[in-house]
Amino acid sequence: MSYDFDTVINRHNTGSLKWDYFKDPDVISMWVADMDFKVASPILEALHKEIDFGVLGYSQPQEKLNELIIERISNNFNWEINKDWIVWLPGLVPALNAACRGVGNDGHKVLTITPIYPPFLTAPRLSRRKREVISLKRNQQKWELDFEEFEKQCADGVKLLLLCNPHNPVGKVYTKDELENIFLICDRYDIVVCSDEIHCDLILNDELNHIPYASIHKNAEKNSITLMAPSKTFNIPGLNCAYAIIPDKEIRDEFNKSKEGIIPYATGLGYSACYAAYKECHAWRQELLVYLNGNLSLLQETVNSLENVSMIPPEATYLAWVNISKLQIENPMETFASYGLGISPGKWFQDKDYIRINFGTSKSQMEKAMDRFRKAVNEI
Ligand SMILES: Cc1ncc(COP(=O)(O)O)c(C=O)c1O
Repeated sequence: MSYDFDTVINRHNTGSLKWDYFKDPDVISMWVADMDFKVASPILEALHKEIDFGVLGYSQPQEKLNELIIERISNNFNWEINKDWIVWLPGLVPALNAACRGVGNDGHKVLTITPIYPPFLTAPRLSRRKREVISLKRNQQKWELDFEEFEKQCADGVKLLLLCNPHNPVGKVYTKDELENIFLICDRYDIVVCSDEIHCDLILNDELNHIPYASIHKNAEKNSITLMAPSKTFNIPGLNCAYAIIPDKEIRDEFNKSKEGIIPYATGLGYSACYAAYKECHAWRQELLVYLNGNLSLLQETVNSLENVSMIPPEATYLAWVNISKLQIENPMETFASYGLGISPGKWFQDKDYIRINFGTSKSQMEKAMDRFRKAVNEI
């Protein structure tokens, strides 16, 4: 390996949301979705350059950044986008909320697919919309959407679908067929699709590709809001830099109106880091994916060796969704923390039978965590 993912970096008492959440410093923190790796050198160099310049005023994206995004999306995902469609943002959680406010009116229905990253569940209510949910079904080693049920829900007045592809927390990568089915149904009922694709550069399974929902069909593109960012893949979520791609002017105008005066600009440091990440960190990302697959194998072996837990391996992301229903624990976060493991409880994602484990960490930390997980499952 040319890059260092092995060094354990002590993040305690650094103001880290992930590591300072648990008061016990012995807990290995594997909850919120950031990784424990240092960012790639080109990103650090770009940030040093900004700091050395010394003036940190308001920023806007430079032309070369927009051009890079357009080129990258064309090369990586076969989707041709236009500069005017890009809306820069300080984060994608605000974008989910702006999408809910910008599409439809008070009381209109927003559908999302559970289990799901919690802001998908809160954004509709915060935007005075009615939230509807449909659950993914577990079918052998796959997570699947029941399209009959999906269509029934869509037919009942839904205005906006909040899609997550790749899907956090189950790690599902939607196939072309599935996206086409989603499109056909959403097109039939005139539903706008907000597709959060923040994890699109973290496909772990070589046989799979990320397909942007909007690239499926011209009408899908027209009725879509696609959300992307370098933050998850290159481990820079603290820099607040993300973007929405909104091809239709009317939808874009409404989205922009709903964020006006509330959502700030992205940051200059974020733009610089984004440019460096997309321009110069391709090899780093390739090695990261190999490293994450190593951690995932370790996690899968551990889960397979235990009778009372199970998991469908994620196809993307560095998040694993582990079924612990047989353990019958009331408060999994507290219980696993008492074994020195900090996890996210499934109830946050609307399924209390699961926990989410973030495996974006060094191998030695992962091994230690798996020993603790084994001990916990055997003793509970
Ligand atoms: C699907 C998804 N969307 C959005 C976010 C967070 O986005 P941001 O930090 O840009 O608000 C996450 C973070 O884990 C996520 O998994």
